[in-house]
Amino acid sequence: MKAFFPKGQQIDETRLNDVTKLLGENVGHRDLLIENLHVLQDEYGYLSRDTLAALACAMKLSQVEVFETATFYAHFNVEEKAKTSPAKACSGIACQMARPHPLGPNIKTVPCVGACDKAPINDTSAATPALQNYPDLAQYQAAGGYDILKKLQARDISKDHILSELEKSKLSGMGGAGFPVARKWRFLLSSEGERALVVNADEGEPGTFKDRYCLETNPHQVLEGMLIAAEVIDAKDIYIYLRDEYPHIRNILLTELNSLRAGGLNKGRSLHLRRGAGAYICGEETALLESIEGKRGLPRIKPPYPAQSGIFGRPTLVNNVETLWRVQEILKKGAQNFIEAGYPRFYSVSGRINKPGVVEAPSGITIRQLMETYCAGMQSGHTFKAYLPGGASGGLLPAHLDNVPLAFGELEKYGCFIGSAAVVVLSDHDDMKSVVRNLMDFFNHESCGQCTPCRLGCEKISKILEHGKLDIPLLQELSAVMQSASICGLGQAAPNPLLGYLTHFAEELK
Ligand SMILES: Cc1cc2nc3c(=O)[nH]c(=O)nc-3n(C[C@H](O)[C@H](O)[C@H](O)COP(=O)(O)O)c2cc1C
Ligand code: SF4
Repeated sequence: MKAFFPKGQQIDETRLNDVTKLLGENVGHRDLLIENLHVLQDEYGYLSRDTLAALACAMKLSQVEVFETATFYAHFNVEEKAKTSPAKACSGIACQMARPHPLGPNIKTVPCVGACDKAPINDTSAATPALQNYPDLAQYQAAGGYDILKKLQARDISKDHILSELEKSKLSGMGGAGFPVARKWRFLLSSEGERALVVNADEGEPGTFKDRYCLETNPHQVLEGMLIAAEVIDAKDIYIYLRDEYPHIRNILLTELNSLRAGGLNKGRSLHLRRGAGAYICGEETALLESIEGKRGLPRIKPPYPAQSGIFGRPTLVNNVETLWRVQEILKKGAQNFIEAGYPRFYSVSGRINKPGVVEAPSGITIRQLMETYCAGMQSGHTFKAYLPGGASGGLLPAHLDNVPLAFGELEKYGCFIGSAAVVVLSDHDDMKSVVRNLMDFFNHESCGQCTPCRLGCEKISKILEHGKLDIPLLQELSAVMQSASICGLGQAAPNPLLGYLTHFAEELK
């Protein structure tokens, strides 16, 4: 008689028991798939086929669903042999520029880890500080923290007052799109159903590290803004989606969210902290919702917008970390104060300046003022040549356009945008083609692959920059298709630095 071999990956009973024990009650929650993958990887050091098969069985999911999710995220190590990860270097543009020699071919690299002020990061495990020094709940409250929230909860100030102050301040979202905050909150109020709030702490735009600064220096300012937003829109659940590259901030948030619960400041609203897994696209708000639901971060087609149908189909407000920081500040000091201060925001400044770091400056400041007033000028021996006004996506400008206000609605005239205000200063030591290649390689690596213009467009541009002679009309045509036909902002913005290069550095192409 022929032996019978069941098809597919078989379940190892011992592994299944271990996995079930390790995950406890989380095993029954579909949306916790990514959290569960983290727990298993932390335990075993990597995700073997046995582990993935056992996880699928324990969570009652198909193996393909678990496998495709695990392999979508760069931080999951789905390899049998590579049990210990070698040191990894950051391949972000600020790190690339700061290295005197290119990295060797055997060095593993990862996309920008959000520590551009400390560039170059040659071992990412050293990028996060071990010790934290920030005001805890008691210290924050002693300085008047949570007063606004408590007044709102007691109805000593009204939701209308909050919304009209935010309207007066003209606060725009700080995550990149610059959408007016009060208007978004009002959309939520007109949506029926159980509402949710998502705090976008994914901060993946190369060159951006201002949300890290907010959460490292005063996490309760962000958390107060978050609870104010939740109170205004009456969100039952609050999710914070934090990039996995900031484990020290995860520890801060775990502690401080517990303090909030213990102090009852969340008024029964559920607080969920979710851990990203190394996918830039999950910063895009709808990909982020998919990821919180435990799936691959594939952006959804809009409409419907999250305010109409967001997480688990519920009306959802998505706001960036700094946006919520500003909400607290505006309500504490008044909209007039914010206006008189010139609509301040945080700029993450890196590259060839003397003092890289997070700078708080008025909206609409120019690159010249930013460099000279806040960053102690150019490094010695470097001449200012060009800059990225808004990270990898925000385009590329030459030094002679140094008087353009760095603000929403101003840079667009030059095919650029401010986005999350990640300003990278380039000098005569930097080869523009290598800079653009670094950025295009990043987009190529991070494209979710869901739509053809972005998937193929990023790949082709990357390859052409690596090998080919630049066929300018062809590159322009390719860029136009990507900009107009990609599903989400990644593909739409990816050609921006290339187009800046073709427009402003034509002499280098000859
Ligand atoms: C490819 C891509 C990546 C993004 N990454 C982030 C991010 O890391 N953090 C963020 O707050 N917003 C990011 N955004 C913008 C979000 O989609 C969304 O507009 C923002 O979180 C809304 O918050 P805000 O209105 O407070 O800015 C990204 C958008 C795109 C298209
Ligand atoms: S534009 Fe790129 S990242 Fe966005 S959905 Fe399409 S393939 Fe994915």
